[in-house]
Amino acid sequence: MEIIFATHNQNKLKEVQIMMPEHIKLLSLDDIGMHDEIPETSATISGNAAQKVQFIRQRYDMPVFADDTGLEVLALNNEPGVYSARYAGEHKSSIDNMELLLKNLEGKRDRSARFVTVFALDMDRCQTLFEGVCEGAVTEEYHGDQGFGYDPIFMPNGYDKTFAQMSLMEKGEISHRGIALKKLIAYLT
Ligand code: IMP
Repeated sequence: MEIIFATHNQNKLKEVQIMMPEHIKLLSLDDIGMHDEIPETSATISGNAAQKVQFIRQRYDMPVFADDTGLEVLALNNEPGVYSARYAGEHKSSIDNMELLLKNLEGKRDRSARFVTVFALDMDRCQTLFEGVCEGAVTEEYHGDQGFGYDPIFMPNGYDKTFAQMSLMEKGEISHRGIALKKLIAYLT
């Protein structure tokens, strides 16, 4: 089967591509010639995932899925959460987001945090949501140069390295996105 993954984020695309079984052919937004920015104006992670899917579904008559992700930090009342991409401003800079997060956590003893991903799938005019959660902590310094977003400062529980120090496969096995994706794949197969 062919299915569209509605993201412009090449890192997400790689993470999902490597885990997809061969018989599911993933089409990226580039593959279908969609270069517009997809709106994500909902106040919830699942709402944003659903909004992205609807936007594409209205323009393409094919199965489509999209994800939205937030980093919830306990000591900051679960911020940045749904606002993770624009935590330090509309320019959506990962470096600025991480700097602001480290600054806001200065002096806090509890650095526990979790990533939440929701995949929304639209197939046969039916929408289904799949959630994945990864518990961990925000480190005090940057470690690693793999991955994207907040990866250099997020250490999953049970590991002594950040997501940015893991291979794509290693991250995918335990990450919020990997967990949600496994549920999506089980539904599709
Ligand atoms: P969105 O799902 O693309 O809206 O992501 C929201 C924010 O979380 C962006 O700043 C992303 O860079 C960041 N983000 C999303 N997924 C991950 C991840 O797997 N690791 C680290 N940061 C992520």
